[in-house]
Amino acid sequence: MARVPTIATSRLLLRDWRDSDVEAWVQMNADPRVTEFFARDYTRELCEASAAVMREQLERNGFGWWVVELRGGAAFAGVIVLQAVPFEARFAPAKEIGWRFGVEHWGRGYATEGARAALGYAFGELAWPEVVAFTAASNRRSQRVMERLGMTHDPADDFDHPNVAPSHPLRRHVLYRIRNSNRQT
Ligand SMILES: CC(C)(COP(=O)(O)OP(=O)(O)OC[C@H]1O[C@@H](n2cnc3c(N)ncnc32)[C@H](O)[C@@H]1OP(=O)(O)O)[C@@H](O)C(=O)NCCC(=O)NCCS
Repeated sequence: MARVPTIATSRLLLRDWRDSDVEAWVQMNADPRVTEFFARDYTRELCEASAAVMREQLERNGFGWWVVELRGGAAFAGVIVLQAVPFEARFAPAKEIGWRFGVEHWGRGYATEGARAALGYAFGELAWPEVVAFTAASNRRSQRVMERLGMTHDPADDFDHPNVAPSHPLRRHVLYRIRNSNRQT
């Protein structure tokens, strides 16, 4: 077991899971606005199973899906992930960053603030040379987070997500990248 690092920003804590976070994760994913751009059905069963896997991976690797807590506020506002891209793709193997927040926490800059700190961790402590992010081509809100982080988009990197059915409207994905400016490689 790795010790799970807590990543602090002025307004947020990215921290390890607690048992009480599982219900908050289930409830967040039950909101269709949160899952609008995901091509799967976030049932309670799937959410409980995925929470257990996320917690186990975070505690095993020391990076993964952190719970985002608002300092002095909501214990569970969302999640931010740093992980190896978990499917085969032209751009993989690669490391990715991602985010998901409850709707009541949108529009306050929390995703960008937390993701910026997570990127700092990826480029500092983890010394990753590059981080990618991807989302459905129609998910402009998530792409705006990528742009605020200074990630860049080359349309030549766009791809069809291998885990989304060929006829599905969310199949087409955009890929953003950012390189570690601390490294020469
Ligand atoms: C994607 C997602 C995390 C973006 O959340 P968000 O709140 O729009 O993103 P940010 O945290 O960067 O916040 C930026 C917004 O907060 C506003 N804001 C308010 N106070 C702010 C502050 N102090 N600092 C920065 N921005 C602030 C910005 O103006 C911006 O609003 P705008 O988009 O209306 O211009 C959120 O929509 C989400 O969880 N979606 C569902 C899951 C999902 O699609 N995840 C991505 C899948 S790959």
